[in-house]
Amino acid sequence: MIFGRVKPLDAILATAQKKSLTRSLGPFQLTMLGIGAVIGTGIFVLTAEAAQKAGPGMMLSFVIAGFVCAVAALCYAEMAAMVPVSGSAYTYSYAVMGELVAWMVGWALILEYAIAAGAVSVGWSGYFIGWLNTSFNITIPHALVRGPFDGGSINLPAMLIASVITALLVKGTKESATVNAVLVAVKILALSFFVILTIPVIKTGQFTPFAPLGFAGISGAAASIFFAYVGFDAVSTAAEETKNPQRNMPIGLIGSLGICTIFYMLVASGVIGTVGAQPVFGPNHEVLSPGTPALSAACGAIQEQAVVCSKEALAWTLKQVGWPFVGWLVGAAAIIALPSVILMMMFGQTRIFFVMSRDGLLPEFFSKIHPRFHTPHVITMLTGVFVTLFAAFFPVGLLADVSNSGTLFAFAAVSIAVMVLRKTDPTRHRPFRTPAIMVTAPVSIIGCIYLFFSLSKETILLFFGWAAVGLVVYFLYSRSRSNLGRGIIDVAEDEAYEGLNPPVPGTH
Ligand code: ALA
Repeated sequence: MIFGRVKPLDAILATAQKKSLTRSLGPFQLTMLGIGAVIGTGIFVLTAEAAQKAGPGMMLSFVIAGFVCAVAALCYAEMAAMVPVSGSAYTYSYAVMGELVAWMVGWALILEYAIAAGAVSVGWSGYFIGWLNTSFNITIPHALVRGPFDGGSINLPAMLIASVITALLVKGTKESATVNAVLVAVKILALSFFVILTIPVIKTGQFTPFAPLGFAGISGAAASIFFAYVGFDAVSTAAEETKNPQRNMPIGLIGSLGICTIFYMLVASGVIGTVGAQPVFGPNHEVLSPGTPALSAACGAIQEQAVVCSKEALAWTLKQVGWPFVGWLVGAAAIIALPSVILMMMFGQTRIFFVMSRDGLLPEFFSKIHPRFHTPHVITMLTGVFVTLFAAFFPVGLLADVSNSGTLFAFAAVSIAVMVLRKTDPTRHRPFRTPAIMVTAPVSIIGCIYLFFSLSKETILLFFGWAAVGLVVYFLYSRSRSNLGRGIIDVAEDEAYEGLNPPVPGTH
């Protein structure tokens, strides 16, 4: 029976009630937390990919993706405030739709977090290489700084940053609220400089043709650029530490998404209006997908003189419009700020694995805690190895798309869970209620499905392949070992989790 094995919500909440985190976060801190987790590779790097898919129409793609994220965020917030425990979408699904759905969501979250961490590492690498070149005139051959799909062999800088972040997480390095605030300021300043210097020199002619690849191109770019908004769940997971969550949660979520959307649209206009954002076509005017050898070759043929060819789109644009020094600064900002996004993503991954292992669905040794560092070091290192390998061999766009497929699945599951719970448990205390849930949740579900099927065929196939592997693992391994299946509902389990180091990055 699919919906059997529901983990009782009260058992989960009993754990939450034992914890006594102080409610210290207000709307400003929450918004900062959101912006800190959200702004990253999406805007700094994937703008080039979005241009290749949609041309100037990518502006619309940013709006569509931002809107779907906003409605999903409102659903997420009700769950996060009501079930403020570790494991996010996985835990919510376990409580509402049962173990199998929870397992599939947890399995999809591996795509969301681990692959996203790989994508941001590759994004970081692009800026790092460009910055090295501008600063010291060092040119590293493509073979060592790009994966095989992207005209190279291995991406060494991406591997380096993924390994460094893994080491920091094993040691339990905290990202304090102050560091987060500084990094948010760095990112906002970098994007502001970009906007101030590019918007005044926009040429309106660059906006035509607006949609060279039609609405399908705009949808495809929206599905990819969705990555630029992912990470706001950091806000939801801080629900328990929020003062007056009913008021402050939506301000934090919608505030950070709203600010990011405005910046993204301005930055996208700056790119389109100055250097142009028309896709590069193949020799026979064929459409080329980002992150393919064919696009690499076409870019080589035009000496990489198009924004869609750049691995550091914003820095490149500034250089083209006569501001090389500011381009250099924006590059430096990306190099400083992107690692914190990798850290957030890898942190999220290790905590999800940790909870799944505590539930008996993954091997117990995954949740071993380091005696000195108090970190889940085994699972952190395992995650680190995979993130490093993804970063080494795959292009940023493919990784971002695959990550999006998992995220969209998880968001849709949470939106369903929130509606189901309103029906099955209407009287439960809800610190935050999604406004107009019978409209918001269905719109979120439809939005997620629409974006999911706007991803490339390869990505969709990869997702279903991954899901099939997940089902096999569940029925061959996890189902028989599940604590819940064996009648163990151990509410003490999350206490061990709470002793973990570090806490949610950027909150303290
Ligand atoms: N939204 C994050 C980024 O764009 C994941 O890097």
